[in-house]
Amino acid sequence: MRCENGHSFDQAREGYWNLTQPQDKKSANPGDSDDAVLARHRWLKRGHAAGLIESLREWTSVKSESGPHSILDLGCGEGTFGPALFSDNAAGYCGIDLSRRAIKLAARNWPEATWVLANADRGLPVVDRSVGAVVSLFGRRPVKEIERVLSDDGICIIAIPGEDDLIELREQTQKEGHRRSRWELVVDEMKAVGLELSTHKKWSQQIELDSEEIADALAMTYRAVRNSQNARLEGVDRMNVTLAADLLLFQR
Ligand SMILES: C[S@@+](CC[C@H](N)C(=O)[O-])C[C@H]1O[C@@H](n2cnc3c(N)ncnc32)[C@H](O)[C@@H]1O
Repeated sequence: MRCENGHSFDQAREGYWNLTQPQDKKSANPGDSDDAVLARHRWLKRGHAAGLIESLREWTSVKSESGPHSILDLGCGEGTFGPALFSDNAAGYCGIDLSRRAIKLAARNWPEATWVLANADRGLPVVDRSVGAVVSLFGRRPVKEIERVLSDDGICIIAIPGEDDLIELREQTQKEGHRRSRWELVVDEMKAVGLELSTHKKWSQQIELDSEEIADALAMTYRAVRNSQNARLEGVDRMNVTLAADLLLFQR
């Protein structure tokens, strides 16, 4: 692909498009590490997001009167959610992530869709008001760009960790696990660019984790928890934990 300034961009063997620019390599936020991506991949393969996917389907399965629309998934990660939520619209789906490992996994798993290695914090490679559904599941939220690309009757679906998400693990590793409710801040950010909350759902579930799952849960989330505190979990081989997310649906 070539842009109007004459820069060219390659399609990788796996089928994804590489729209990164040299400065993305030096980015302060270069996307998730390979370890975090692989931990998330194993986690999702074990089905820990099945209930969450079911809950999101209530919004993603609504058919638009004007036919299938385009979907932009910001920080799509290793690509489990795309086909789980939009399997009937591969042609309309585009996932963007800055981790090469994540995009490779995603492109191999669902080659019919469009996958883009790019920094979602810079301009999104998408025409104004052309996207029927912008999705950000624990991913990036460049709110001005979301507003720019969303079609007039488009929806934006955002998921963020709930205040109790993995609280037992955080309590164990941080001495005191902070409960932080952040969804109100997201609503404010979106409102500031003209996008209104139309529905808020809380999703949560209790599960028992074994030691490998505990390690993956630590590796894929909460950077602050990962390193120094892992030692506190040595010898813990089973743990009941809460999974929780705030699910937010926005419209113009
Ligand atoms: C917590 S993961 C969520 C992934 C996926 N949505 C899911 O729920 O499994 C966040 C994702 O955002 C990606 N990411 C971080 N910074 C980014 C950026 N500036 N542009 C695009 N993706 C980014 C990471 O590489 C990672 O895959």
